[in-house]
Amino acid sequence: METVTVNLGSRSYPIFVGRNLLSEVGSMLRAQNFQGGRAAVVTDSIVGKLYRDRVVETLKSAGFDPLVVEIPAGEEHKNLAWLAFLYDKLIDGRIERRTPLIALGGGVVGDMAGFAAATLQRGLPFVQIPTTLLAQVDASVGGKTAVNHSAGKNLIGAFYQPRFVVIDVETLRSLPKREFVAGLAEVIKYGVILSADLFTLIEEHLPRLLQLDAELLTFVIKTCCQLKALVVEEDETESDYRAILNFGHTLGHALESVTAYKQFLHGEAVAIGMAFATHLSHKRGLCSATVEQRVRKLLKKAGLPVDIPKDLKGDYLLFGLATDKKMAGGKVKFVCVEDFGKTCFEMLETKEIGTYL
Ligand code: GLY
Repeated sequence: METVTVNLGSRSYPIFVGRNLLSEVGSMLRAQNFQGGRAAVVTDSIVGKLYRDRVVETLKSAGFDPLVVEIPAGEEHKNLAWLAFLYDKLIDGRIERRTPLIALGGGVVGDMAGFAAATLQRGLPFVQIPTTLLAQVDASVGGKTAVNHSAGKNLIGAFYQPRFVVIDVETLRSLPKREFVAGLAEVIKYGVILSADLFTLIEEHLPRLLQLDAELLTFVIKTCCQLKALVVEEDETESDYRAILNFGHTLGHALESVTAYKQFLHGEAVAIGMAFATHLSHKRGLCSATVEQRVRKLLKKAGLPVDIPKDLKGDYLLFGLATDKKMAGGKVKFVCVEDFGKTCFEMLETKEIGTYL
């Protein structure tokens, strides 16, 4: 098992990465000074079927009294109505101030359970067990929690750091291939923006990653968490530097939004966004043609889309870009790449971004 520490002063926490860690959650809670008693597990209808029994068993054998709350799977349930359902079930289940709230699932479960943990009784200890590659390399670091509002994604939320995170790489075996590949987009993102070594390693060992080689997955996920931790440690609440993690996301979010979140998985939209951001960077003289080609080639080899579908190019997409919630003074803080591991921000108007589409 590997351990990554996210250093945030009194809110610091460890991330454990390895094989078959699901059965260790009970003893891990004990090792983190939890004394037994109520432990709440929030999961969804798909992940719950696969892993809830294992988590319940480890909790029971470590002296906990588990309460499991299931929400339906899917982003469309990440809203205030289902959050209210979650609050009701947890309060009916007699949670107390010291009850650990464990999120077992992907991004939706983590975001909702995290927000419930941040707000119930002004803060319950939160534990994350992310079961998708995307949640393992992104949501497990940095404490972003939220639910969606009809006016936009993640509009209601809080920064709330977990006590610890358990990443069991074996859970990736039950993840649909398309979702695994979409998660790889964020892995590749860390290589582009933060580490030439990681990018090269993925280029060289992509087939082993796609075959879910556990040792390589452990190393790559640990490395992504370490890289993201360095960013979050410098700018926990995204006042500036943390925005580099939005590489590929400006266009990615616009593509998701103009297709009503139905056509692309998040990672797929981000892959197109990364190919575009690298193209824009090259055209503006910030990076070489080689950087652009290597990024496109690796994304394609991983099985990710890199081109904007023709029917989506046009004013509608520009409108999608213009509604970016991170817009300031009519401009977007667009993340550009200079070289692998080296980025810069360009303040760009939507119109100007549109000229590179
Ligand atoms: N998902 C980007 C961040 O955590 O800041």
